[in-house]
Amino acid sequence: MVSKLAVFCSKGEYGFNTKKYNRVYKESIENPGKYWGELAEKELFWFKKWDSVYEKKGFKCRWFEGGKTNITFNCLDRHLADGGDKIAYIWTNEQGEERKITYKELFEKVCKTSLLFKKLGVRKGDIVTVYMPQIIEQVISILACARIGAIHSVVYAGFSYQALSTRMTSADSRYLITADFTYRRGKKVDLLEVAREAAKESKTAVKKIVLVRESTTKLQENEISLEKETSSLNGFIDAQVMDAEDPLFILYTSGTTGKPKGIVHTVGGYSLYAHITTKYTFDVRKDDVYWCTADNGWITGHSYIIYGPLSNHMTSILYEGAPDYPTPETWWKIIEKYGATIFYTSPTAIRMLMSYGDKYPKGHNLTTLRLIGSVGEPLNSSAWLWYHKIIGQGKCSIVDTWWQTETGGHMITTLPGLDQKPGYAGLPYFGIVAKVVDRNGKEKKNGEKGNLIINGSWPSVLRDCWHDKKCFEGYYQKIKDCYFTGDIAVKDNDGYIRILGRSDDVIQVAGHGISSAEIESVVTSHKSVVEAAAIGVPDAIKGYKIIVYAVLVKSVQSSEDLEKEIIGYVGKVYGKHGRPERVEFVDKLPKTRSGKIMRRVLKAEEEKKNPGDISTLEN
Ligand code: WTA
Repeated sequence: MVSKLAVFCSKGEYGFNTKKYNRVYKESIENPGKYWGELAEKELFWFKKWDSVYEKKGFKCRWFEGGKTNITFNCLDRHLADGGDKIAYIWTNEQGEERKITYKELFEKVCKTSLLFKKLGVRKGDIVTVYMPQIIEQVISILACARIGAIHSVVYAGFSYQALSTRMTSADSRYLITADFTYRRGKKVDLLEVAREAAKESKTAVKKIVLVRESTTKLQENEISLEKETSSLNGFIDAQVMDAEDPLFILYTSGTTGKPKGIVHTVGGYSLYAHITTKYTFDVRKDDVYWCTADNGWITGHSYIIYGPLSNHMTSILYEGAPDYPTPETWWKIIEKYGATIFYTSPTAIRMLMSYGDKYPKGHNLTTLRLIGSVGEPLNSSAWLWYHKIIGQGKCSIVDTWWQTETGGHMITTLPGLDQKPGYAGLPYFGIVAKVVDRNGKEKKNGEKGNLIINGSWPSVLRDCWHDKKCFEGYYQKIKDCYFTGDIAVKDNDGYIRILGRSDDVIQVAGHGISSAEIESVVTSHKSVVEAAAIGVPDAIKGYKIIVYAVLVKSVQSSEDLEKEIIGYVGKVYGKHGRPERVEFVDKLPKTRSGKIMRRVLKAEEEKKNPGDISTLEN
């Protein structure tokens, strides 16, 4: 059913309304070279201008070829002349501790860290793995890589040592930057231990670099203290001149196979897209206090905590901790304390905080908020309405931004100033042609669900999957030459798009894409399990939760203890965010005659629904 409820929201700074959006959108589609070329010229600094805005070779596209820039120049250097004293980040944590850093200080620290990396032998094109908590030094380390042209590969600090070492080996990464610990719900979590295990396990010869938060941490051979080593380094280092198409980073994301995909983004196009989507989606103003609650271990942190906000010279809140720890009002306190004007979070967090009731947000002054956003999973209508009424006090625009690690930045959203519809991400971004099609690529009628695809290219489209050509080509093979998103969507008569979820075996748990195959391979590595199927079933708060069906080795009896053990095992081997909610022990898994596990039969069973066509089912 198509929701007809349109809510008028505050007009944005850039004055986008439906009429203006339609005009600019039309221009951007009819003449992308002109649209993106003019923006790149106006919005960014380039050491050398490009020869061509974009060049298409089959489905591959290269952007700003011949252009030379460095993203840290756009994020730091260019703001120093008359904006160095502006606060870049206000860091805070569960304990309410606080640190602030200005653009000038951030620039100086990035320079020092860049110098240290160089001293350690890191060169342009080397891959540096960053396994760190949400602290200012994490941002500094990432920027230092970008400044000297090293490719950063950030791994979410909730991942286990095995997941970390797999990613390091796959990227052939010889440098690992970590911190000794982080706090999670009041508990001190040892990251250094995980990093040490991962380095041991990794097939590449790792030189570790360790950041020490506590002076009592004992370092081993090959480990150095970032703080100590940089304190004696002084001076400025020029940003490495980068080709627009040089890689900026890789970021691993879950695929439909068990193997994580190293998504590659390049310097020029990504710089522009992260910058301009931040500016327009969040309607950036000079005195904004912006807070994106994502973790820098995921793409949202890369584009909308680090690169986009810095490039726009914004002040951001950087928070290390959980949404509801120590109390369900922690986040509302932070908004009130710092006078946040923009708040960007996930549907899971919204639903969780909504479940605690209105009294917590109502106990705080949230009137500074002017724009609120969502990302990671569909924001269902009831959560949308609560978010709008209670957090947005009925006056804030909601930007429900649909995008992916692969797209680098927002692809579908309702810009502030346009009519909003609860449950709908909204309209395609400028330059983006989004279609809902059937299996053959034929466009569906409005109101009918189908596969969401993107026609044509945009500056921050993934350029490659690291060392995996087949995986990269896979995005363009399902529907010839179109980018296949793997999501199911529906379009209404106004062109508004509603995202319904994934069409493949990636489960969105609390906004984290987790591959069924990867969880299955972890579960089957447990000594008592022969075979397993992992499925996602709807969950009121997390969007989806993981249920595992497991076949045990003959000699082992099923028991509650064993279930607990397996759940804990997944947490240890994969990372806590991948833990199944439940493990069901079965004698056999439903399979096709060719031996493929039919997860949809299990899903239907869980959801008490009709399993659909089961003619290929063997048992
Ligand atoms: C889902 C996160 C509905 C979607 C930025 C997509 C969403 C996957 C939304 C990518 C949204 C992201 N509404 N679904 N606003 N945003 N998704 O790579 O299924 O971690 O394919 O990037 O998240 O997840 P990823």
